[in-house]
Amino acid sequence: MNTVDIIIKKRDGLVLTKEEIEYIINEYANDNIPDYQMSAFLMAIYFRGMTDEETYYMTMAMLHTGKVIDLSRIKGFKVDKHSTGGVGDKTSLVLAPLVASLGIKFAKMSGRGLGHTGGTLDKLESIAGFNISMSIEDFIDQVEHINIAIIGQTEEIDKADKKMYALRDVTGTVPSIPLIASSIMSKKLAAGSDAIILDVKVGSGAFMNNIADAKTLATLMKNIGTMAGKKMTCVLTNMDEPLGFAVGNALEVIEAIDTLNGRGPRDLTELCLTLGSYLVVDAGLVSSLAEARVLLLDQIKSGKALAKLAELVEAQEGNVDYIYHPELFDLGEKVELRAECYGYVERIDSYQVGHASMLLGAGRETLASEIDYSVGIVLAKKVGDIVNPGDLLATIYTSGKNTEQAYAMLKGAFKFSEDPVDAKLILDVVR
Ligand code: URA
Repeated sequence: MNTVDIIIKKRDGLVLTKEEIEYIINEYANDNIPDYQMSAFLMAIYFRGMTDEETYYMTMAMLHTGKVIDLSRIKGFKVDKHSTGGVGDKTSLVLAPLVASLGIKFAKMSGRGLGHTGGTLDKLESIAGFNISMSIEDFIDQVEHINIAIIGQTEEIDKADKKMYALRDVTGTVPSIPLIASSIMSKKLAAGSDAIILDVKVGSGAFMNNIADAKTLATLMKNIGTMAGKKMTCVLTNMDEPLGFAVGNALEVIEAIDTLNGRGPRDLTELCLTLGSYLVVDAGLVSSLAEARVLLLDQIKSGKALAKLAELVEAQEGNVDYIYHPELFDLGEKVELRAECYGYVERIDSYQVGHASMLLGAGRETLASEIDYSVGIVLAKKVGDIVNPGDLLATIYTSGKNTEQAYAMLKGAFKFSEDPVDAKLILDVVR
């Protein structure tokens, strides 16, 4: 088989065979195809697209370039969750302990934040001592014993995706539906769970900025997962404002703790209950989403969901005192942003809020950047809220880095309307 012929075939909009796709993915993962040829191949996919069948073959080929985790020795129903990346998205920190407290096994490999989006691992590391690296054996043991583990992706998983994602990042080929679907699904299938729930973000700062594209991506990922024998749910959620109020690592952990205490923001709580209900039904604990919701709310009211988070933190060497005394988190100096006009909040641009938070030091400009866990932004208003001049819009937590720039960007993120505005969180569900 010849790499140039495969590139030309895709460049000309033809459909590749399973063998051609396997060839190019395997040879690239094994360093036998140079980055310049892979870049051309990715760009050809970007412009020409792929059929669902080609995307499935590519996902399976990518998955098999690394280790596939075998969770079969863990008894019980195993679930996994993934978000396509949002601002203020601390859902996993709430959902994982909430669901695990019901005996469902939550085995999660998470990522780090990059650019304006945050990552679960960085958030967890704002808890003193929290360890995100462990062997696959220890990961499986922990899920077996306490139903929950959240770790970083090990080097052995999905070698092709690691190389391809880095290349896409610098060749303008990230926002391609078949490339995103195969990247996400190859990692999720490698992680070995029985059910996967995907939160596909739509709007400013998300990979998909319209519902039609998000639905195409969600349907494709659902089909790939179903073909691979998984129970799949994709929930499309609005990213035209950050999720919850807090953006920034320690601030988001504090908000997750509040949510597990039953005092979380309405949108975050709703999202966790929605995602959790699908997983509870998939696990067969009850047969309806309404019954599942009742079970989940009981776990919050009884304190069992928060206790599960504490168990996770203890098992991964973090200081549990932070969970019961969030005032222990070190936070930056406060700077307030106040409204200058009257109106309804129409939009809080997620990209700009995420970028402002990154400028303060909460996120990374490049993978090598250091993170400041103590900084970020807490919104005081959400879309639909009414605002009078002088009202608090948001509080910046800063260590002094780029405060003025972040303030200006945050101010620019708020758009007002004279007419009432409706905020909608869950846009669609593909199951
Ligand atoms: N997240 C991923 O893991 N891969 C993509 O391509 C996009 C989002």
